[in-house]
Amino acid sequence: MRKLIPPSHPDHLDVSSLEALAEVYAYPEQVKRGSPWLRANMVSGLDGAAKLGGLSEGLSSEADKRIFGVLRALSDVVLVGAETVRAEGYRPARARADFAAARRAAGQGPAPVIAVVTRSLELDLSAPLFTEPLVRTVVITTEDSPADARRAVAEHAEVITAGRGSVELPRALAELTARGWTRQLTEGGPRLLAQLAADGLLDELCLSLAPLLTGGDAPRILHGAQMADAQRMRLVSLIEQKGFLFTRYCRTPE
Ligand SMILES: NC(=O)c1ccc[n+]([C@@H]2O[C@H](COP(=O)([O-])OP(=O)(O)OC[C@H]3O[C@@H](n4cnc5c(N)ncnc54)[C@H](OP(=O)(O)O)[C@@H]3O)[C@@H](O)[C@H]2O)c1
Repeated sequence: MRKLIPPSHPDHLDVSSLEALAEVYAYPEQVKRGSPWLRANMVSGLDGAAKLGGLSEGLSSEADKRIFGVLRALSDVVLVGAETVRAEGYRPARARADFAAARRAAGQGPAPVIAVVTRSLELDLSAPLFTEPLVRTVVITTEDSPADARRAVAEHAEVITAGRGSVELPRALAELTARGWTRQLTEGGPRLLAQLAADGLLDELCLSLAPLLTGGDAPRILHGAQMADAQRMRLVSLIEQKGFLFTRYCRTPE
């Protein structure tokens, strides 16, 4: 693994060093003062596809999975759209021994909370995400979502309601922040991420670029909601391994 930006001497980054990766991807200091930071972690192919054969797995690599794990281990909460939970068979985040001391020191629980955004509440409540999470899963839905389904979900997860018709994402994130979860991570999918960006909520994008051309009509990493204005991003770190590029872009101050 080579760290290209910012340049360092030596520029070699030991991929097996979780500590080094944790340093590269550290959240900004503001999260300690209660001010949230929302980071997205996504992968795409060279021609922009955000999935291959219906999943993101085919675009990933060993280093990508490593960084994925580090980003989770640094976060308080992982926000994810229900379609990604269904398609990818989401499981609860696990406690990582390598990060246990750092999480304790930062006042974090053993693993991040998974927070699922859904209107339909069509979730498999018999899945480990709801039956055996280390920390209780959160489901964020609308005030007018099906009442029976909401009651059933509430037996297995903490339910947050924010908005009618659609979850109002600024309110949803404010609810997460109010619980002290300021290190926020979203893993998409593309339709949720487009809305977060359009609502001006996205502070950072960690994009893994896989050295693959796929063609077809797969969505891009932001799909659907149109942003009023293009958001300029600043490249803060770039890592390369085996032709994969691991980028970290932060929002430029307005
Ligand atoms: N390349 C990558 O990095 C990456 C990352 C993640 C996922 N993926 C892939 O992307 C696909 C899934 O992504 P997607 O874009 O189709 O879906 P998604 O964003 O994961 O989920 C969409 C669903 O989330 C809920 N939702 C989103 N916004 C909402 C709002 N404002 N209010 C209420 N509910 C809301 C709805 O759930 P209900 O239908 O339950 O109402 C909606 O159908 C999968 O194939 C996955 O493999 C790729």
